[in-house]
Amino acid sequence: MELAVAVVAPQALAEHKTPALAVAVQGKSLSASARALDEASAGALQAALARSGFEGKPGQTLALHSLPGIAAGLVLVVGAGDAAEVSLQAWHKLVVSAVKALPGKLGKATSTLAELPVAGRDLAQRISDHARFAIEAGYRFDEYKSKKPAATDLLGKLTLGIAERGDLKAAKDALTWGRCIGEGQSFARDLGNQPGNVAYPGYLAEMARALGEDGDIQVEVLGEDEMRKLGMHCLLSVSAGSQHDAQLAVMRYQGGKAKDAPVVLVGKGITFDTGGISLKPGAGMDEMKFDMCGAASVLGVMAAVKLAKLNLNVIGVIACAENMPSGTATKPGDIVRTMSGQTVEILNTDAEGRLVLCDALTYVERFKPAVVVDIATLTGACVVALGKVASGLFSPSDALAEELLAAGQRADDRAWRLPVWDDYQELLDSPFADIANIGGPTAGSITAACYLARFTKAYAWAHLDIAGTAWLSGSQKGATGRPVPLLLEFLRARAAD
Ligand code: BES
Ligand code: MN
Ligand code: ZN
Repeated sequence: MELAVAVVAPQALAEHKTPALAVAVQGKSLSASARALDEASAGALQAALARSGFEGKPGQTLALHSLPGIAAGLVLVVGAGDAAEVSLQAWHKLVVSAVKALPGKLGKATSTLAELPVAGRDLAQRISDHARFAIEAGYRFDEYKSKKPAATDLLGKLTLGIAERGDLKAAKDALTWGRCIGEGQSFARDLGNQPGNVAYPGYLAEMARALGEDGDIQVEVLGEDEMRKLGMHCLLSVSAGSQHDAQLAVMRYQGGKAKDAPVVLVGKGITFDTGGISLKPGAGMDEMKFDMCGAASVLGVMAAVKLAKLNLNVIGVIACAENMPSGTATKPGDIVRTMSGQTVEILNTDAEGRLVLCDALTYVERFKPAVVVDIATLTGACVVALGKVASGLFSPSDALAEELLAAGQRADDRAWRLPVWDDYQELLDSPFADIANIGGPTAGSITAACYLARFTKAYAWAHLDIAGTAWLSGSQKGATGRPVPLLLEFLRARAAD
């Protein structure tokens, strides 16, 4: 979908030629644009709303065709609730439903929704939001469907209207930023949705290489031999049962000064998690193709950072492996040595995410990072605790935790902090090795984070557990692209203008 901004002042709206025009209604009160259309149509808009019993709940839409005195063929009235200011969550929801309700067959549409007052968001931010929510709403994954919708059935262009010419430059920049977030997120969704028989570790490594093709990002991929030389036996223990080699891809983007310490993102890239010898139950196991969504989010962020030309040094690392049972697979009770030198007793081969991450986290010490954030679909316990609304955030640093929480708020891609206190560490004691890879039945997300904490002492570190937020199940099954928006807001706030 092509996105643009244009000056479409309320006074000129009745004459604005477009097949479809979206305007907002806050409870009983019309937005400036809706009021202008109501006046131009001699009250026909209000009358139609009253007739239909339109309540204006956030996301409720009503399509009005051929209103008298209005050039637009269709006016889509969009509810925005009746609060004086729309909450960011309601705003997100209403833009998505508005864009979904615009008939694709019309080809083009104009939206004035960014005129709404949204809590804590200025016009530029509302334009960014609108752009990325529109991309989110228009996303589809039909690569494997024999029947795909014709291009003429999809909305080709959406113009975001603003009232003042003086805001145009800022709005265009804001649109670009919103598009970068949206495209990074869509890329992450595409990767997440790929089936496990396509997206093997080598596929993700190829995707990383492709990001480096035009030189903006330096890419290096380590195969199993190289990892063995580095002593990454813990990571390699996860791919031991698979026919497909593990891959560690490193993507370096230098948008800042050469001497500036980079932000490092490390993604869990388990392309399919059967559980290994600690085999998972069959029901719903297909969803374990999404166990690479941490890696997908890192790839999505790197793509967006490059597109946005952020003035910041960012390094993305994806630790990719397939967790399979076989005669060569790692067994419960096996002990492996990590790159850090610490030994691990693998009591459960299904707690594999931390096994690939710990070696990747040791590896990234060489970059002398400003901060390291790892992103992983790490624990079912996180889904139990936070559901599909918030990602779990863990960090020993209050400052870094606050920074990430705030970025998640701004992006409407929220996280919630849980502790990584040392008091939990004893749950990981092993009689035979330095550490066990599971901590028993309680505090599962915290003990997973505590395991990672033992490998991240050399730098400021945070961990995002996205087990609940990376994908949806049921009729809406599919990757969400979270937490790409959170991470991009975090990076942009750290970048120089
Ligand atoms: N990839 C899973 C975590 C997961 C489970 C994410 C369900 C989303 C939905 C992870 O590798 C895993 O299997 N974790 C185990 C850890 C346990 C063995 C300590 C879990 O959560 O059950
Ligand atoms: Mn697992
Ligand atoms: Zn897993």
